[in-house]
Amino acid sequence: MPSISKKGTLMPASPIRKLVPYAEAAKKRGTHVIHLNIGQPDIKTPKVALDAVRNHNIDVLEYSMTQGSEEYRQKIAAYYAKRDIFVDAEDIIVTTGGSEALAFAMGTIMDNDDEIIIPEPFYANYNGFATAAGVKVKPIASSIENNFALPPISKFEKLITSKTKAILICNPGNPTGYLYSKEEITQLAALVKKHNLFLVADEVYREFTYDGREHYSILQEEGLEENVIVVDSVSKRYSMCGARIGCLISRNKEVIATAMKFAQARLSPPTFAQIASEAALETPQEYFDDVIEEYVSRRNLLLTELNKLEGVKVATPQGAFYCVAELPIADADHFAQWLLESFEVDGKTVMVAPAAGFYATPGLGKNQIRIAYVLEKEQLVKAVQILGKALIEYNKK
Ligand SMILES: Cc1ncc(COP(=O)(O)O)c(C=O)c1O
Repeated sequence: MPSISKKGTLMPASPIRKLVPYAEAAKKRGTHVIHLNIGQPDIKTPKVALDAVRNHNIDVLEYSMTQGSEEYRQKIAAYYAKRDIFVDAEDIIVTTGGSEALAFAMGTIMDNDDEIIIPEPFYANYNGFATAAGVKVKPIASSIENNFALPPISKFEKLITSKTKAILICNPGNPTGYLYSKEEITQLAALVKKHNLFLVADEVYREFTYDGREHYSILQEEGLEENVIVVDSVSKRYSMCGARIGCLISRNKEVIATAMKFAQARLSPPTFAQIASEAALETPQEYFDDVIEEYVSRRNLLLTELNKLEGVKVATPQGAFYCVAELPIADADHFAQWLLESFEVDGKTVMVAPAAGFYATPGLGKNQIRIAYVLEKEQLVKAVQILGKALIEYNKK
């Protein structure tokens, strides 16, 4: 057989996917699996978005414009303006999900063997995008002890080499739920200016912030026009993961012109999904208020329940809908598999995401899991109770 590429061989599989066969086997045995592992919100998609697709009058499903329709980009710019972020429609390229915006960003600014610094734990697919672009990830560990706050800037500086092209942050974070403060963002801004680096900010969870805290976007920092690229998405904001619409934003004209060449190669973003996403911008504020209220009460309940378990340490998320918990075990990969293969309470078990897959440094996060609180409260409580019983049973072995 002709050989597979080195890149292809190095491409990481999803750290969660390896557990799927065990979950499937558990379901076949008749065990009900409660999924704490997936970031698919159970919240309803806004009706205005679905209605816009239902009521379209398209006769020919044509390619859309490469950068996304003018009207949609104007409306995205207006959405940001309401949040004190001032960008023009020309600074925006509509992409097939935030995922494609991440791929375009890497392709636009990084060459083979260039380095990108990312605070870990981070969204596991960053590894995949970096591998596809031939880029080296230089992780910098954040700690559960301080809720995964930004590591000291001196640690970033130590990692910067002549190969470093960019720093990538996720704000608020998946899997940490950490929301960077204005001060932290300002520190990063000064750092990238000083070392002439790009700063890529993945802000797909920007709308999900709690406890009265507001999201501060890197786009609100002045004097960073050349350095900043923001990745955004409708997936979580409007519970529209299947629409596959996101965008890349930069005031750097050369970045946009280069990203456009990547965009031209894939022709255009999906037409129907753009119609839905444009209409979603009309979603009334009450929708978000209700969603945030729901996530806050789920988070509070989850933390209360987890804190009841002996030996469990949890970071308090201030945004997104994930949290990282440290368990009194040595190997969360083994524990997660054991939960699916060998444990149940009243015919139910739980599936968790072992956190090691969210770290790039080998050995880190081995006793941690990521929990997504995208389930109804009753299910969440049940899941944590099962987790508690499982920990007792597992540690007896
Ligand atoms: C941090 C983060 N960035 C980007 C994405 C990609 O989202 P999408 O391609 O659906 O917009 C996700 C999806 O879970 C995510 O968690």
